[in-house]
Amino acid sequence: MRVQFLDLRQQYLSIKQEIDEAVLRQVGSGNYILGETVARLEKRIAEYCGAAHGIGVASGTDALLLSLKACGVGQGDEVVTSTYSFFASAGTIWNAGARPVFVDIDPGTFNLDVSQIRDKVTRRTKAIMPVHLFGQCAAMGPVMDVAVEAGLAVIEDAAQSVGATWRGKKAGSVGTTGCFSFYPTKNLGAYGDGGMIVTSDSAVADRLRLLRVHGAKPKYYHKVVGFNSRLDALQAAILLVKLNHLDAWSERRRENARVYDRLFRGSEVVVPEVSEGNVSIFNQYVVRVPKRDAVKDFLKKKGVDTDVYYPLPLHLQECFQELGYARGHLPNSEKAAAESLALPIYPELTFEQQEYVVSSVREAIAAA
Ligand SMILES: Cc1ncc(COP(=O)(O)O)c(C=O)c1O
Repeated sequence: MRVQFLDLRQQYLSIKQEIDEAVLRQVGSGNYILGETVARLEKRIAEYCGAAHGIGVASGTDALLLSLKACGVGQGDEVVTSTYSFFASAGTIWNAGARPVFVDIDPGTFNLDVSQIRDKVTRRTKAIMPVHLFGQCAAMGPVMDVAVEAGLAVIEDAAQSVGATWRGKKAGSVGTTGCFSFYPTKNLGAYGDGGMIVTSDSAVADRLRLLRVHGAKPKYYHKVVGFNSRLDALQAAILLVKLNHLDAWSERRRENARVYDRLFRGSEVVVPEVSEGNVSIFNQYVVRVPKRDAVKDFLKKKGVDTDVYYPLPLHLQECFQELGYARGHLPNSEKAAAESLALPIYPELTFEQQEYVVSSVREAIAAA
């Protein structure tokens, strides 16, 4: 049997007619960047998240960078974030001119250990960037408490978590801004790059709309130096179709997670935790296994594709050497980097494929 990590073609074929019609309609409209279709998607996503505004941008990375800028983060500032994330979380802080200040993770959820945030806040801190990793929201209660006390912006990196909820609130709707990625492998993926910011702060929304078009208002009159970061209308047309299927796909992902949880019972595999009050959309299903790299290689030979999110935490990346972190400083993240293994979890995965994945993992551990 062959089990791909993700099968985007299979998903396309399941909604082919709707997608093809939407794409052809958009191509025939003569409108290709921003415009009415993007505005419709912005409204739909904002409503879906329970936020007042949606601002379409070129990628999830830009959603973070523009949010930082819109919240006034710049030279000499510090932003507290998780060391266990995709590079963009810290890269955008750096590119905004600020310093990322890393906190370790809670080993069960892989999300930032919120008990460590307060100690990291200094007079230079401007914002907290919680990352909602693998489809589950970080513990936003303590994040918001610290932010309100210290007067900080909260930029939610919800790139992996469209539709996840924390205490009934959608990912991205709790902080100052919520940032989404429509990179094709994401649970709400476009057919190219794309991103969106949601916010209920009208002043921040206005700044974001300005920043994505080089800071111009009106055209050719630049109030600030901004970016070229616009969402394509074609991607918005595709996403409007996919958004109608998102909740059903998320439910399938949760069902697949429940099946894995059950099938792994009694094995050495540590399955991911979902914290009380959270509903995960399982953008990834990340387990911990002994001798991870050997297990991964064995699975590859058995036809099962897996991935490692992430082999090196951000505080140990070469480009951040000057921040002064060393091995041992954030031990939970370093341990997770050595043990974590993401298994296929996409909505179209069959029960037989999951059984095969689980029996192959058990065999791999025995052989390793
Ligand atoms: C946690 C996280 N933040 C940010 C991003 C950046 O999104 P994009 O690839 O759309 O720039 C991603 C996705 O790659 C991500 O997983």
